[in-house]
Amino acid sequence: MDITTERAAAHRLRVEMVALPLASGGSPTRELAALDAATGGRLLREIRKRSADPAKRGAVSIYQTHGFLPAELIAVLGVGTASPAMGPDDWRRFAGQAVATAQGARVRSLAIEVGGTRSDGAVAAGAAVEGALLASYRFAGFRKAPSSPALARCVISGAPGSRAAAAAERRARIVAESTCLARDLINTPAELMTPAHLGQAAVRMARRHGLRVRVYGPRDLRRLGMGAILAVGRASRNEPRLIEIVHRPPRARGRHVVLVGKGITFDSGGLSLKPPQAMEIQKRDMSGGAAVLGAMAAIGRLRLPIEVRGYVASAENMPGGDAYRPGDVVRTCIGKTVEVLNTDAEGRLVLADALAHATRGRTEASRPRWVVDLATLTGAVTTALGRSVAGVMGNDADLVRSVIECGRASGEPIWELPLVEDYVPLMESPIADLKNTGDGTAGTIFGGLFLREFVHRLPWAHLDIAAVAFTDKPQPYVPRGAVGWGVRTMVALVEKAAAG
Ligand code: BES
Ligand code: MN
Ligand code: ZN
Repeated sequence: MDITTERAAAHRLRVEMVALPLASGGSPTRELAALDAATGGRLLREIRKRSADPAKRGAVSIYQTHGFLPAELIAVLGVGTASPAMGPDDWRRFAGQAVATAQGARVRSLAIEVGGTRSDGAVAAGAAVEGALLASYRFAGFRKAPSSPALARCVISGAPGSRAAAAAERRARIVAESTCLARDLINTPAELMTPAHLGQAAVRMARRHGLRVRVYGPRDLRRLGMGAILAVGRASRNEPRLIEIVHRPPRARGRHVVLVGKGITFDSGGLSLKPPQAMEIQKRDMSGGAAVLGAMAAIGRLRLPIEVRGYVASAENMPGGDAYRPGDVVRTCIGKTVEVLNTDAEGRLVLADALAHATRGRTEASRPRWVVDLATLTGAVTTALGRSVAGVMGNDADLVRSVIECGRASGEPIWELPLVEDYVPLMESPIADLKNTGDGTAGTIFGGLFLREFVHRLPWAHLDIAAVAFTDKPQPYVPRGAVGWGVRTMVALVEKAAAG
């Protein structure tokens, strides 16, 4: 889908469908009021007759113009109570719903009107570009006869045409494309998306956007002493990788920051094998890693003035004659040993090596300012927070607050869970420094406490994205499948770090 922005209002454009927002309580937008007047009040009267609450969030009303406009159809989309004005996520949702409505109606061109409201025009235009692009995403898939949506052209109309709007649109495009890169990586079946393949995808991405990249294979991992990543990946024919991507701009401000992602390309559970239903969905277990790759792509393209290093700890967790066993002890790259009681708690093992490596440094200046990791770490986070909110834990209140704020601005809601010190003794092992499972309660918090042991007390935040990385039902700007969760929040967080 081709997307452009225009200063002209929607009714002046030659498109097949015009989409307008309708908020409850408030008065109709300027463009809606004008179109309503042009129909002698028939437009709003008819819409209100057909639906009890056409302004309810998600409500869709389609009106036939019968020739009074170039467009055949007007779609009035409810955005709920948007007080005092529509915010970025209202605009993303509205634009996403507009694209979905246009696709449902099989029209080829669409105007999404963002003008004539009380919102900041640049913010609205940027968010609408983002929402529309994210909603138009389709995974190419493997069908014999792939269906192609009719919608080929989308215009964001009523845009301010200012410098700020142009910058917002450019950022939106980059961020949406990077999110879709992450989605593609996650949606690809695990047979194809092996650790080596993920490494190749990282190399291709990095070369395209001028980033440095290095992919460590089993020999390098042995040299680095990364016994945890090696143990998790040992039984798979698809050998593990540690991917390192560096964005080093010419005029970097201050010390670097680090993003780390869990890149388990398939999680069978290993010898602590998962039941079939739980395994069905485990190609998504590299969603944190995909988010890091997506974020690094965007950070490179946006040329953010701060050094950023992204790491993806990638392995395939399989059973087999060479598999690591419950009861085995693995040695991480900083010498801390872990007794493995459950081979299905593999994410924290690969992240232990990656986090320890990424936060190491002989001097203060060579250590990062902060590190954030993203991981589909625990099923328990779904019990705690459901499928719309990610969990965050950390050892630094300012960093955690920033993560939550950036999530809110990006339309990725995040809630903090406590790192309960009372639970720390649950990590004690009789034969190693730590064990990799707790007592079966507060599984998400236990995961966080475990990871904290590997960050050298630097400011750190951990996002458990197991519940939000994938969606079984389409959302306003997320088609079914991989969400690409975290790309937008991480870009916002790095922008914040670059600014101050
Ligand atoms: N990859 C899983 C978590 C997961 C579950 C992701 C569902 C996406 C959907 C993770 O490696 C895992 O198996 N966690 C265990 C931890 C337990 C063994 C301590 C879990 O949540 O059961
Ligand atoms: Mn697992
Ligand atoms: Zn896993």
